[in-house]
Amino acid sequence: MAATEYDKAKRAAAFIRKQTRQRPHVGLILGSGLGAFADSLHPAVRIPYQHIPHFPVSTAVGHAGRLVVGLSGKVPVAVLQGRAHYYEGYTPEQVVFPTRVLSLLGVRALVVTNAAGGISARLKVPSLMLIGDHINQMGFNPLRGKNDERLGPRFPDMTEAYSKQFRALARKEARRQKLRLPEGVYAALHGPSYETPAEIQALKRLGADAVGMSTAPEVTVANHMGMKVLGLSSVTNPAAGLSKQKISHEEVLEEGERIAGRLTRFLHALVPLLAKEVE
Ligand code: HPA
Repeated sequence: MAATEYDKAKRAAAFIRKQTRQRPHVGLILGSGLGAFADSLHPAVRIPYQHIPHFPVSTAVGHAGRLVVGLSGKVPVAVLQGRAHYYEGYTPEQVVFPTRVLSLLGVRALVVTNAAGGISARLKVPSLMLIGDHINQMGFNPLRGKNDERLGPRFPDMTEAYSKQFRALARKEARRQKLRLPEGVYAALHGPSYETPAEIQALKRLGADAVGMSTAPEVTVANHMGMKVLGLSSVTNPAAGLSKQKISHEEVLEEGERIAGRLTRFLHALVPLLAKEVE
């Protein structure tokens, strides 16, 4: 019989457990140009995705493609430094596979970050946005197909896809750090072309504040598996048609790096707060 997604994820998790004695309850997925947090973990074990059974290997520029298990202060964390995107040609199952593995490793609190274009006028460049909710416009749901009850229920609830409690903790910590952290809705499109100005106007009418090409699949699966999620977008450019400039991946990476220091500091402060909630 062919191996199920559950079997494959179990195998990957068993492989990872052999490389480290840390057993993290907090996991993070770092988006384009936002890998600095993973580099700041000491001590840490760094495992290239190619070495982990069944792991998709990320090809996007700005994505390191390794799992880092290490300490943030005193708290063990598992960090996906780089993600597999649907636009790279991966199947939905491949896109969400690393998220499933984090859950099977014991992660209960997941922080998801991404680079995004700003739609709302409240979002300056570069800045951070707390994701309050998302609109999945990617054209697929990663849970399509036969449901494996060992992973989660057939019809998972998504009313708190991004934990209300985690959002409150993030806002409180942001106030403490005097960090502006407006909350907004993230629209996930499948890319890889950036949006047209008309698409951005349409998304604005739908209620989106920021737009990007990831996150919704991983967050859907995290909810399927019962993890609590915190989402952060780094707003790296005004969305299409909202400035005179054209959008380039170089600009996205550059602005992402400009905000990476702030994001790293914020994440280190958040990790123990989230860990406490899921211990
Ligand atoms: N659109 C989609 N994805 C993005 C953008 C954008 O403007 N900026 C960074 N990721």
